[in-house]
Amino acid sequence: MAEVQLVDVEKRYGEFLAVPKQSLTIEEGEFLVLLGPSGCGKTTTMRMIAGLEDITAGDLMIAGERANDKPPKDRDIAMVFQNYGLYPHMTVAENIGYPLKLRGMDRKSRDARVLETAQKVELDALLKRRPSELSGGQRQRVALARAIVRTPKIFLMDEPLSNLDAKLRVTMRAELKHLHHELGVTTVYVTHDQMEAMTLASRVAVMREGRIVQLDTPKKIYSEPADLFVAGFIGSPSMNLVEGRITGGRFEAPGVSLPVTAADRDGVVMGVRPEDLQLTTDGSAAVSGKLYALELTGDSTLVTLRDRTTSICARGPADFEAPIDAPCSLAPKPGVRIHLFDKTSGQRIDG
Ligand SMILES: Nc1ncnc2c1ncn2[C@@H]1O[C@H](COP(=O)(O)OP(=O)(O)O)[C@@H](O)[C@H]1O
Ligand SMILES: [Mg+2]
Repeated sequence: MAEVQLVDVEKRYGEFLAVPKQSLTIEEGEFLVLLGPSGCGKTTTMRMIAGLEDITAGDLMIAGERANDKPPKDRDIAMVFQNYGLYPHMTVAENIGYPLKLRGMDRKSRDARVLETAQKVELDALLKRRPSELSGGQRQRVALARAIVRTPKIFLMDEPLSNLDAKLRVTMRAELKHLHHELGVTTVYVTHDQMEAMTLASRVAVMREGRIVQLDTPKKIYSEPADLFVAGFIGSPSMNLVEGRITGGRFEAPGVSLPVTAADRDGVVMGVRPEDLQLTTDGSAAVSGKLYALELTGDSTLVTLRDRTTSICARGPADFEAPIDAPCSLAPKPGVRIHLFDKTSGQRIDG
């Protein structure tokens, strides 16, 4: 059974349409990530599920029951907000233990559970402090600990890792993933970070201007982006996108020529990921130009080529070296996917 269902749900703030009518089914036990740039309606969607925002039109179903008018406290949801929402007069321990206290758990079991949870998020040394005595990242971890201290029906997390430093973010990401594996609680997770979405999600809903433009597994989103927006948003460095035309079974653009399986047409955008290109010296070159920049990332080198209007990036071997402005050629690695999109609509046109 679907745990959370949005059926033709719409949100207006006065005249402003923040989330146009849309439907979304979140399966029981799923880790669904809402991914999109700032202002695309992620928080609004989440707040509607939480009951913190009125739904203008449509139905919100939780575990098969219409929940539009159910107060937040009756939804059995635990939330982590972007802005923490901690109680300033309580210590860290009291903040984390509050949901347990509300449910009448005795002091001793509560303390044990709080300590165990605090250890998971590396807060056990700060249990006696108050929120005002913590850094932003520490406050965020308190909010996270308070959400995971008990097992609700649904977790709602709004950019819960955004204020942590890079190292802790990666640790916490793994912690969240493990926690989800352990508890199997239906989770809706909001982020603008595509890496976070790809690593955590069972499915990703990519949003743009209030709309879900693609809902798929991370693998599918990566290998078969539905449109140019998704293609450009997922992957780092992002997919190379080149405008051109298809003629005689080849995609052609200045400095670029490669075989494709699509009918002849104009107004095409070809996409190829940096990791799907390799440096070549034989006659198989699909892209040729001058070396524009080399960036060593540690395990590989990002190689950027330019030819007048076209700029293409490839991920090459870490030991690759060549002088800037040297002529350079690239070819797709055997068997990789070349993506084709309609320039006007942005929609994918290959199979
Ligand atoms: N209370 C509000 N009143 C009016 N407009 C709002 C309100 N909250 C959000 N919005 C607008 O709705 C859109 C979506 O916002 P939000 O859901 O917060 O985006 P995201 O979380 O994806 O960054 C934005 O254009 C934002 O300015
Ligand atoms: Mg937001």
